[in-house]
Amino acid sequence: MKRTGLAVMSVLLLGVSLLGGDKIVIGHRGAAGYLPEHTLESYAFAYALGADYIEPDLVMTRDGVFVCLHDIYLEGTTNVEEVFPDRKRPDGHWYAIDFTLEEIKRLSVHERCRDSGQPHFPGRFPVSASHFEVPTFVEMIELIQGLNKSTGRDVGIYPELKRPGWHLNQGYDMTSKLLEILARYGYQGPDAKVYIQCFEADALRRLRFELGTDLPLVQLISAVSFSMTTRQGLAEIATYAQGVGPDKWIIEKSPEFVSWAHEFGLFVHPYTFRADSLPSQYASLEEELGKFLFDYGVDGVFTDFPDIAVWVLREGAIPLRGKAR
Ligand code: G3P
Ligand code: CA
Repeated sequence: MKRTGLAVMSVLLLGVSLLGGDKIVIGHRGAAGYLPEHTLESYAFAYALGADYIEPDLVMTRDGVFVCLHDIYLEGTTNVEEVFPDRKRPDGHWYAIDFTLEEIKRLSVHERCRDSGQPHFPGRFPVSASHFEVPTFVEMIELIQGLNKSTGRDVGIYPELKRPGWHLNQGYDMTSKLLEILARYGYQGPDAKVYIQCFEADALRRLRFELGTDLPLVQLISAVSFSMTTRQGLAEIATYAQGVGPDKWIIEKSPEFVSWAHEFGLFVHPYTFRADSLPSQYASLEEELGKFLFDYGVDGVFTDFPDIAVWVLREGAIPLRGKAR
């Protein structure tokens, strides 16, 4: 390559780096802003919109299969009340763990609804339209790996273990099962295109110290987990995890959280950025994402609208399009 070509390439690479080239966009529950969460369709759409990683939340079925669901209950996002009206527990919930995979496959996934039946996000995909299945984790992995083959891209997966302590009490060890599936699909070693996330430190510690994994681990932090947001808390997290996934409010309230995490070698991937649930101080999702990515300096974002985060990162500026949803 001629010197001028090299110079242009260097400037371009520098530009990509300065514009957040190493920051990542995580398709939260797929592209949940556009299609019902945790469906293969939502994951494929997030992929097509340019997400770097796609997030499945994981719970277990009665026959020990990982399925992609945010809740340990089925009623918020499926028609389980219609298909199995008599299978709720006395507490009024239909638990995924009470159903076999074959039974769960008979359900239809819909846009997330409140107990009243009204959608959480009225502007999203119509509740009763089309038909979607609850996918297994293996189906999700095979979809992403299949798309990686057909497109030549290398999109990663970002599985979250939901309530592993509760599952353990029910007799199901999520941690060893997760590692077994990931190994079967080639996710091994610290550079694998996978991040394992969990709110429960015990499960992450078990993955790291008892099961000996060297896969990247991410400690999720809710807005009420105060002890994890201190410097001491972050130092402790750094003994077993590579990154933290804080509620974005933690950073909004204390932006120094990001530099503290970085001091301990932890990357920071806050959640969840939504165009249709925008904090009042921002005029658009683009503006909010620009603030977090370029001013607060986070390393990636969980978002229901991966296309908008990709646009903000690649443009490298706060577009302020003001497109309220
Ligand atoms: O995993 C990051 C974020 O998704 C955590 O919140 O409740 O959407 O799983 P939740
Ligand atoms: Ca999640």
